[in-house]
Amino acid sequence: MFENLKKDALKQIETANDLQQLEKVRVALLGKKGVITEQVKSIGKLPPQERPEAGKILNQLKNEVEEAIEKKKEELQKKESGKLSPKLWVDVTLPGARRRVGHRHPISKTLEEIETIFVSMGFKIVEGPEIEDSWHNFDALNTPEWHPARDEHDSFYINDLLLRTHTSPVQIRTMLSEQPPIAIISPGRVYRRDYDATHLPMFTQVEGLYVNEDVSVAHLKYVLERFAQQIFGKERQIRLRPSFFPFTEPSFEVDVSCGVCGGKGCQACGYTGWLEILGAGMVHPNVFKNVGYDPQKWTGFAFGMGVERITMLKYNIKDIRDFVRNDKRFLENF
Ligand code: DAH
Repeated sequence: MFENLKKDALKQIETANDLQQLEKVRVALLGKKGVITEQVKSIGKLPPQERPEAGKILNQLKNEVEEAIEKKKEELQKKESGKLSPKLWVDVTLPGARRRVGHRHPISKTLEEIETIFVSMGFKIVEGPEIEDSWHNFDALNTPEWHPARDEHDSFYINDLLLRTHTSPVQIRTMLSEQPPIAIISPGRVYRRDYDATHLPMFTQVEGLYVNEDVSVAHLKYVLERFAQQIFGKERQIRLRPSFFPFTEPSFEVDVSCGVCGGKGCQACGYTGWLEILGAGMVHPNVFKNVGYDPQKWTGFAFGMGVERITMLKYNIKDIRDFVRNDKRFLENF
């Protein structure tokens, strides 16, 4: 009984090749008007003694068919999930989403270079506080009350304290806590009330100090020449021009020969052949007295440079404010 029906049903299920077709087969067999459903309904028309047997067989058939459909459905679902829907489809030929790697800020890079050069010459790196008192920032450095740097309009004061206007106070702190010979550089942030294409209210300086017996301008010049040639290139020359700083005597402005014209004079160097890179001089006897050193015994040189300025000269940057604008198009050049 119903052998052919069963064979036919299982065959239809087996040959369905997608879920849609399988659903159609299911409806044709087990739907409201499906062949199996019709058979079940027609049981009532059989003679009463045949009904239980027919019902049992049909029920079994129905179960088997349902099971077969379920199995086939799982199989087809597996197959179809292998094909991605258009939404999930990935174009593997597209360029990948690149993860950009960051890098150090140009000022940090220059600072690191400066530090490496001086450390290789035997200088030690020392840091000091950014909030200073005016004794360390001015008085001890032989900077009198009338000096323009002390003006409220040029410095940031907080009651009796101020944001240091240079890293020179670290000279004082070091000489107070150590005995010569001393060879230090002091990098750090400094603050002034200034803001234009060549000045920032916060910038970076490196101070240098060498104290020993019999230190001369020749030593100063040698150290700064080696520095200039390592940071700008070995063909570069330096020159010392007389200048004034309260904490040094004599004082100099130090220039490096122009890298664009080689010293002949061009637009980059204002047709002078030279570019100013830093201030320097021989430690003033009053500074030694202020830290309790005997100026008859000890001699020394000092220098101070702006890291932003050195970086601008190195890369021919015209506006110092580019360093703090955080514009990737600028920063990516380094
Ligand atoms: N402190 C000076 C400034 O901020 C720079 C400087 C000049 C430092 C000469 C020195 C020096 O040690 O000898 O402008």
